[in-house]
Amino acid sequence: MKARVRAIFEKLGGGADALLLMNSIDPHLDQSFFYVFDVPSGLFEGSLAIAFPDGELTVMSSPLEEESARQAARADPHVTVEVPNGRAERDALLERLLGTRSTIALNYRELTHEGFLALEKALPGSTWTDASAALRAARMIKDREEIARLKRAAEIASKVAVEIPSLLRPGITELELAAEMEYRMIRGGASGRSFATITAFGAMGAEPHYAPRDRPLTPGSSLVCDFGALYRRYASDITRSFRFGPADPELKAVHEKVLEAQEAALAVLRPGVPGKEPHLAAQRVIDASPWRGRFIHGLGHSVGLAVHDGYGMNALTEEPIEEGMAITVEPGIYLPGKGGVRIEDDIVVTGSGYEFLTTAPREYLEVRA
Ligand code: GLY
Ligand code: MN
Ligand code: MN
Repeated sequence: MKARVRAIFEKLGGGADALLLMNSIDPHLDQSFFYVFDVPSGLFEGSLAIAFPDGELTVMSSPLEEESARQAARADPHVTVEVPNGRAERDALLERLLGTRSTIALNYRELTHEGFLALEKALPGSTWTDASAALRAARMIKDREEIARLKRAAEIASKVAVEIPSLLRPGITELELAAEMEYRMIRGGASGRSFATITAFGAMGAEPHYAPRDRPLTPGSSLVCDFGALYRRYASDITRSFRFGPADPELKAVHEKVLEAQEAALAVLRPGVPGKEPHLAAQRVIDASPWRGRFIHGLGHSVGLAVHDGYGMNALTEEPIEEGMAITVEPGIYLPGKGGVRIEDDIVVTGSGYEFLTTAPREYLEVRA
């Protein structure tokens, strides 16, 4: 992971002697820890990663994942693993590695306050600087290995998206459907879900961040399914919308409009374009339709070690799209009291445009009840 560490220091612009990433307790784990330390398994609660401008990395692991940590270090000659026995030993090691007068870059967005207080005590006299913008910038441009994992994560979720119609039957609840989908992703090679699966039946499809409940599916319901797989720590994110039972002409027309909006966004999506351009292209299509104003969120976000990985595209995004970004394109139309339609795909930005990571067909599916 030497290239990644060096990329971070390049973005830091010479202002730090070392980068220190510190995990707290799950879920307060800094995904940037796994960006610099590519370890296939383990939780790494309380662990630290200390990286230097020359690309060298020391990881302090607990004994709970020592074997995984040592395996990863054997595969990377620039990584040293230490397993300190308790806090005093950890702090002595920190002082040995960093001295007491270094400028140390920390991830202000992820380090807990408790963690920071422990570092202040262990390394008095240090100067702290914020690494979060540099980490965001480095992580935004994916390397070949990251793109391969995102592609696999997207393929696993896409396969399940195709299977959803076969899972629908009267009475299945939102939670049961979510459970089936997650089970199938893990059977397909995922290590888990990339976020809490959204299965929204009927009117609840109008709420983009709905959490499924024990509500049963009834003929004549529309449904929105938004979910993703984790593959070797990388997250995919896909949404498909369906109709169960007798057709609803309005929702069918809404689906066609959302697809048109997604196509309009993709038509302008390429390196160098400000992120607001694809968003506004989609919004213009929807706002020229009978559903004006019903596209109520940003067009998309980057995916990576986190499902919301740093970059976002909305009406105000001046920051340009860059080659190597992996982002979602997810317009939607939401009709309170009736339901919604969202179509979400993951793409990777290439030199001249983009390539799809997700592979599931995007046409509207009316499933016979
Ligand atoms: N599942 C939330 C999103 O699509 O961003
Ligand atoms: Mn999603
Ligand atoms: Mn998304």
